[in-house]
Amino acid sequence: MKILDGKKLSEEIKNEIAQEVAGIKDAGGKIPHLAAVLIGHNPASESYVRSKVRSCDQVGFESTLIRKDDSITEEELLEIIHELNTSEDVDGFIVQLPLPKHIDEVKVTLAIDPKKDVDGFHPVNFGRMAQGLPCYLPATPYGILQMIERYGIETSGKHVVVVGRSNIVGTPMSILLSRKAKTGNATVTLTHSRTKDLAAEVSRADIVIAAIGIPNFISADMIKEGAVIIDVGINRVEDETRKRGYRLVGDVDFDGVSEKASYVTPVPGGVGPMTVTSLLMNTLKSSRKEIYG
Ligand code: GUN
Repeated sequence: MKILDGKKLSEEIKNEIAQEVAGIKDAGGKIPHLAAVLIGHNPASESYVRSKVRSCDQVGFESTLIRKDDSITEEELLEIIHELNTSEDVDGFIVQLPLPKHIDEVKVTLAIDPKKDVDGFHPVNFGRMAQGLPCYLPATPYGILQMIERYGIETSGKHVVVVGRSNIVGTPMSILLSRKAKTGNATVTLTHSRTKDLAAEVSRADIVIAAIGIPNFISADMIKEGAVIIDVGINRVEDETRKRGYRLVGDVDFDGVSEKASYVTPVPGGVGPMTVTSLLMNTLKSSRKEIYG
């Protein structure tokens, strides 16, 4: 079994981006600028946003963090989005989800200019993705594609089983891997909570993408010998032996599947770091006006 080392791969990609940024600087060009909007004090969101800002510093991007209390009104948030949409300086921005209950996430997503939607969440980018048109790919699926491609894992003609149908991971992943494209041409089964015999579906997969948010859900007895296992889950489970009082585990029983799989992503250090580099790549594309001119 080989580890799909997202931490190492993301460092390599960040080095490549840093070199590009150095080139832009030398040529006197505009430094790519990512902004992040963080509402409230959700610990997981705070940790993700911190990692996004730190990664910007690492590659030489400019970054702006806009923090607001969760008493912010929807109108106030929409006004911030309007300012970011029209800012000459900001190339791309994200509004970290989830948002407080009194704010409509769909309305917020729709308010973001697709040209600056480096998360790839706006339906314009989603629709363009589905039709194979230039777009910002959503960060997690984009990171998984990079990982599959850079590790030389064949997808053409393979059977992929995606577990979970969220708008930001499962559904786009199933579309991307079935495309007629370099990392695509797979036959994809998208499974979810109403799938009848989920274990039987997973057992047929050459590649499993687990994105359901249930700790250790995919076990060794469910997978085929030699399967590639991509674990998107980041679940906090209580652990008194840790200083923080919890540890992070994926949707996959890592130790169990390691006995049978050909490749496995660890948690942490697998898909997570790749997601952040995808956001940087989308921001670089935006600053170069690669997608929308
Ligand atoms: N919440 C969990 N993942 C993400 C992400 O990729 N982007 C944003 N904006 N919010 C998230």
